[in-house]
Amino acid sequence: MGLKIGASLDSDGSDMAERGGGSSGGGPTLVWKAVSFAVGEAPILKGVSGSVSGGQVCALLGPSGAGKTSLLNVLAGRSATRGDTRISARVEVDGAVIDPVSRGGQ
Ligand SMILES: Nc1ncnc2c1ncn2[C@@H]1O[C@H](COP(=O)(O)OP(=O)(O)OP(=O)(O)O)[C@@H](O)[C@H]1O
Ligand SMILES: [Mg+2]
Repeated sequence: MGLKIGASLDSDGSDMAERGGGSSGGGPTLVWKAVSFAVGEAPILKGVSGSVSGGQVCALLGPSGAGKTSLLNVLAGRSATRGDTRISARVEVDGAVIDPVSRGGQ
């Protein structure tokens, strides 16, 4: 099983996406585009895009504070726009758009 790099983030949260590429069977393909996450005046994620194809292993690389956990929380539906937290994202599972933000925190 090969290691694929799905996305990497630089120290200010900008996208440095480098795709592993290719596709293989064994599960849905997850694609995220233009993921932004900000708390107050602080942008944490700025237009991050990436993908993981079914059956692939994905490594999310970035220095401490780059936003790895923040990105995974958004994709997993653990974050929501509320208070001074603002999130926007386009997420697709096998081409179908899902909205992890609207159910964030549930
Ligand atoms: N709810 C929040 N409110 C304010 N700042 C936040 C919030 N969530 C994350 N941050 C800030 O966003 C930045 C990214 O945090 P995050 O935990 O996503 O980084 P990380 O890449 O997972 O770091 P590490 O490698 O240390 O786990 C940090 O500066 C963090 O303090
Ligand atoms: Mg983390």
